[in-house]
Amino acid sequence: MVLTGAGMSAESGLRTFREMGGLWEEYDVTEVATPEAWERDPELVQRFYNERRKQLLESEPNKGHRGLAGLEKYFDVQIITQNVDDLHERAGNSKVLHLHGELRKARSSADPNLVYEIEGWELKMGDSCEKGSQLRPHVVWFGEPVPAMVEAAQIASEADIFVVVGSSLNVYPAAGLIGYAPQNASLWLIDPENVMAPVNRHVEIIQEKAGKGVELLTRRLLDKYGK
Ligand code: APR
Repeated sequence: MVLTGAGMSAESGLRTFREMGGLWEEYDVTEVATPEAWERDPELVQRFYNERRKQLLESEPNKGHRGLAGLEKYFDVQIITQNVDDLHERAGNSKVLHLHGELRKARSSADPNLVYEIEGWELKMGDSCEKGSQLRPHVVWFGEPVPAMVEAAQIASEADIFVVVGSSLNVYPAAGLIGYAPQNASLWLIDPENVMAPVNRHVEIIQEKAGKGVELLTRRLLDKYGK
């Protein structure tokens, strides 16, 4: 299983959140990514996500995404991503679970089960679900539950190999998933910075960007597992 974060898509030109120049330096997270923000100023929230969606439509999967898709030749790969982009799917990974939602989808603000694909980049005030309620971005905001965690924890608890790529591991519950990996699973972390995994166990560190890091990881896994 591969847990990915914003760093996974950095080489596709999408900005991370917590680094210098990251999105949370330019925007106040409480003004664009919380249920209270949506109550207070939905136009601002829509603008923020419309801008992200526009950029996503102009972006392509990078070498790291393609490398993880290539791993499916040798392993049963399950991606669990904190990213709301669709670059893993576009790179060709067949099993992708989104923990924090999907930027190219909208959902009803009255009924969370009504989820729709967004045509193009723009979601507007006045766009509504079939029951007439305003559509909101299909993303998990701070302070909201993470419904996919139950499935993610189950997958993590059955992993033989657990890899983290491009996440500062600051945001829970996602960051805690590594703690669910079985004792005999091998743990790997790819990040150009010195990220600490919240486990008291050996973690193989590949201190590289995603593109180069996934290439090195693939070589080492093929060696280790004799493929
Ligand atoms: N390749 C790999 N990792 C990279 C690269 C790169 N090219 N560039 C930067 N990174 C690393 C950074 O060093 C950092 O450790 O990516 C990580 C990004 O961390 P964050 O910005 O905190 O992103 P993430 O961990 O995904 O954030 C989690 O926070 O705001 C929320 O919902 C949002 O899903 C997001 C969650």
